Amino acid sequence: MGLSRRSLLAAGLATLALPGCSAGVPEAAVDRKVEVFSWWAGPGEKEGLEALVGDFAAHNPGVAFDNAAVAGGAGTIARTVLATRLENGDPPDSYQAHAGLELTDDIQAGYVEDLRELYQEQGWLAKLPGGLVDAITVGTKIYCVPVNIHRSNLLWYNPKTLSGLGLTPPKSWAEFLEQGDVIAKRGLTPLSIGPAWTQKHLLENVLLGELGADGYTGLFSGRTDWTGVPVRQALDLCTEVLARSDLAAAAADWQPALDRVVAGTAAYNVMGDWADGYLRTNGLTFTQGYGCITAPGTERVYNFLSDSFTLPKGAPHPGAARKWLIECGSVAGQDAFNPQKGSVPARTDTDRSKYTGYLASAVAEWADGGTRVVGSLTHGVVAGSAWNAKIDTALAAFVQDKDAAKFAAAVAAGRA
Ligand code: GAL
Repeated sequence: MGLSRRSLLAAGLATLALPGCSAGVPEAAVDRKVEVFSWWAGPGEKEGLEALVGDFAAHNPGVAFDNAAVAGGAGTIARTVLATRLENGDPPDSYQAHAGLELTDDIQAGYVEDLRELYQEQGWLAKLPGGLVDAITVGTKIYCVPVNIHRSNLLWYNPKTLSGLGLTPPKSWAEFLEQGDVIAKRGLTPLSIGPAWTQKHLLENVLLGELGADGYTGLFSGRTDWTGVPVRQALDLCTEVLARSDLAAAAADWQPALDRVVAGTAAYNVMGDWADGYLRTNGLTFTQGYGCITAPGTERVYNFLSDSFTLPKGAPHPGAARKWLIECGSVAGQDAFNPQKGSVPARTDTDRSKYTGYLASAVAEWADGGTRVVGSLTHGVVAGSAWNAKIDTALAAFVQDKDAAKFAAAVAAGRA
């Protein structure tokens, strides 16, 4: 695939070196439980986790799974809880983290173990796409095990609503704005939206659609000037898009925002492909009950993120944690989890026949060498936590005051 290290990662993440090796991962087989921390507690997410846990239990009958999931889309609440636990020296046995720069702070704080030895033992390096390996490699070390690949840049709709309106999904944000007026006249909300992180998720995909893959990637590598005219115009467009949303009565999380599309009160929603897992869990089928296409202006671009799991230093049950990580990195684990979760496997050697409906095309596009891969801002790939937090603060103000120049200046200044 076309995921290039240069295009995704800021300086500091180097390519793999020869096995050097680390303290290693404890081999203890005596642990009888594993506490796993994630944010997969809400509808659509918990079913994915359950599928993975089911396969884990089948392979590890003597290990009880202690589910420490904290609800809330994109882990916004979970990450605060986790930070406190790590600071207090009370780590779970394994915790969810995104591949990419998000984990940098935890690595620097010394919270997580290097897993290179486990990678060598399991032969994982040969089974993951090179670009993904680059995104999780720091110097000579790897601190997490990816279980999936999600796609951020998708526009979801209800085919019945669109056919009632006589519309087909927009190919550009300009077309969306035109459609927005038609949709609003019919008494529907053009775009449903949820809490702050979903607004950021929308923003990244408007920027991607307007600036293109190179321009978008440059925002994080430093090649695109946040304070330049193209970014300002894209940000103003984002304000126009939000003006066609139900921001004033924003949904509490991503699932209820999608519910408005399902109910036919809103025409569109921009969300990652965990929406596919959620909508199927609700008994809907792809193309009849719901549809999706790439977010306007992002055709053939895969705005990716990857869920992965770690081994914290001081994990109470490191032997069981090791078994959990082996499950996450296994063909069986990934093929149990991803068809339910709405993601494609991180591994390249899984059973494609398990991926149907929306996921059949996702698997094909992800594997297609012609697909351009970029990394998600909201979901941890292209910016570290410190910069992301500053972007969040600036975005909360921007959504209210609509001052694109002020937002761009704050984001540029906030870069570490
Ligand atoms: C992302 C995560 C996905 C999904 C989504 C909504 O950050 O990577 O797996 O859980 O949040 O909660």
